[in-house]
Amino acid sequence: MRILVTGGAGYIGSHTTLSLLEAGHEVVVVDNLANSSSESLVRVGHLTGKNVDLRIVDLLDSAAVDELLGAGAFDAVMHFAGLKAVGESVQKPLMYYHNNVVGTINLLRSMDKHDVRTLVFSSSATVYGDNDRVPLTEGCELNASNPYGRTKEHIEDILTDLGSADSRWSIALLRYFNPAGAHESGLIGEDPLGTPNNLLPFVAQVAAGRHEYVKVFGNDYPTTDGTGVRDYVHVVDLALGHLAALSYLEGVQGTFSWNLGTGSGSSVLEVLDAFSAAVGKEVPYEFSPRRSGDSAVSYADPSQAMADLGWSAKRSLARMCEDHWRWQRSNPMGYSSDPASQHRGPQ
Ligand code: NAD
Ligand code: WQD
Repeated sequence: MRILVTGGAGYIGSHTTLSLLEAGHEVVVVDNLANSSSESLVRVGHLTGKNVDLRIVDLLDSAAVDELLGAGAFDAVMHFAGLKAVGESVQKPLMYYHNNVVGTINLLRSMDKHDVRTLVFSSSATVYGDNDRVPLTEGCELNASNPYGRTKEHIEDILTDLGSADSRWSIALLRYFNPAGAHESGLIGEDPLGTPNNLLPFVAQVAAGRHEYVKVFGNDYPTTDGTGVRDYVHVVDLALGHLAALSYLEGVQGTFSWNLGTGSGSSVLEVLDAFSAAVGKEVPYEFSPRRSGDSAVSYADPSQAMADLGWSAKRSLARMCEDHWRWQRSNPMGYSSDPASQHRGPQ
C-alpha cells in the first residue's frame, strides 16, 4: 500500500515508518520537524536501504496538505503528527488545540476530498484520565484531565462522528500506554527536546551523566512499593500494532478503538532496577513529592487488540531498557550527536 505518515520523523512515527518499509509498503512522510530531526529518516533509510520521501509541511497549512493528498494517490494515512507535552499544554492550551485539532481537521478534509478514507490515529491512554479502574478497557469512560489529553479526546470524537456519518471511512484509534525503548540497532530512538518529561528518557539521560539523579515523583501511592505504576510498551511492538490495525481496516468500515499496552504495570522503582541492570550500574534516584495530575496506577487490558488484530506486545521491560540504553549510549545528544544531522525547528 501507499501510506502517508504524518509526524513520521518523530519517535513512534520513525519506528513505524521503518516497519512499514520493511513490510513492503511505500511511504511518504509529512512533518514540520517541530519536535524531530530529519536525521531519524536518514537512518531509517540506512536500515531499509530505501530513501524515505520526507515532505516538510505543517498540517496547519491546509493548502499544502491538500496539494500533498491530491498528488499522492495514497491508500491510507497514519496520523502521528501532534504536540504531546502535557505540562506545555496546560500553559499553552490554544497552541495545543490549534495544532492537534485543526491540523487533524485539515488532514481529514483533504483525505475526504481526495478519496483517501483509511486512517490510523495516534490516540493515548491519557484519554482515560485519572481512572484507577485497572486494567483499562476500551469501554471505560473517557475523561482526559489536561488540554493535551482533551485534544486526543476531541479528535476521537471527530473520528467517531465521521465513521458514523459516512460508511466509506475505516478508522483506527490506537490508545498507546507508555511507549518506551528504541530500535534494536541503536540508530533510531526518542530524542526529546530539552529536559525530558517522561520517565524512560530522563532515566537514560541520568545514566548517561546528563543529570545527577532521577526524581521519583511520590513514594506514598497505594502500590506495592509506593511509586506510580504504568504500562510501558516497546516502541517496536507499537509500530507492529499499526501494521496490524492497517490490515484489519482493509476489510471493515467504521471507527474502532484499541488499547496498545502489555497488560501489566511496572512501578518507577522497577523501571529503575531494570534500567540499572541494562546499564550495569545503579542509576541514582531520590524521592520527591508527587507530580500534580499523576495517577497511581494505569495499565491496559489489551485483549481487544489480541482478539481483533492478533496483536500483543512481545518485548519485556528489560528489553525496553536495553534497547533504550543502546540508543542513548550511541547517541548521547540524540540526533544532534551526528554533525551531519539536520536539526529540528521550523524550516
Ligand atoms: P514526537 O513529537 O516524537 O512526534 C510527533 C511528530 O509530529 C514530530 O515529528 C513533530 O515534528 C510532528 N508534528 C507536530 N505538529 C505538526 C504539524 N502541525 N505538522 C506537521 N508535523 C507536526 O511524538 P511521538 O512520541 O512520536 O508521538 C507520536 C504521536 O503519538 C503523537 O500524536 C502523540 O500525541 C501520540 N502519543 C505519544 C505517546 C508518547 O508517550 N510518546 C503516548 C501516547 C500517544
Ligand atoms: C511515568 C511514571 C511518574 C518522570 C505521559 C503522558 C501521557 C502519555 C505518556 C502521550 C509516573 C513517574 C516520571 C520522572 C518520575 N503521553 N516519573 N520521575 O505520566 O504516565 O504519561 O506520557 O500521550 O499522556 O501523561 O508518563 O513517563 O511521565 O511517567 O517518577 O522524572 O514515572 O510520576 O508514575 P505518564 P511519564
